Amino acid sequence: MSANVESKTGRRSLPTDPAPYYEAQVFVCTNVRPEGHPRGCCSAKGSVKLRDYMKAKAKQLGLKTVRINIAGCLDRCELGPDMVIYPEGVWYAYKTEADIDEILKTHLIEGKRVERLMLKPADGPFVKE
Ligand code: FES
Repeated sequence: MSANVESKTGRRSLPTDPAPYYEAQVFVCTNVRPEGHPRGCCSAKGSVKLRDYMKAKAKQLGLKTVRINIAGCLDRCELGPDMVIYPEGVWYAYKTEADIDEILKTHLIEGKRVERLMLKPADGPFVKE
């Protein structure tokens, strides 16, 4: 497992589980915090507008099996705006519509990765136990 904490439960999927309803779900943090908050927030860095852009662009591209969801804080605020794509569990930090276009094309259509935007577990911040 590549998480920044040792798994206490291991993998959870079972062979008897139903197939996933969506091929992919993208959780885009749109959390709002008061100005001056020490951790900042993704919405102050443009995540709401960029999430709306991503949703509209996914629809335009015909990605019917991909869901672009609004998410609350994903707890990696300092690195944001950020998103996580499941079931892969791949995180991205993005800034522009061009970044969103690249994530849609490369990750969600071609099944590859946008290495330059990926957040790795070692990027932190680290899960507190
Ligand atoms: S405010 Fe976006 S990850 Fe916390």
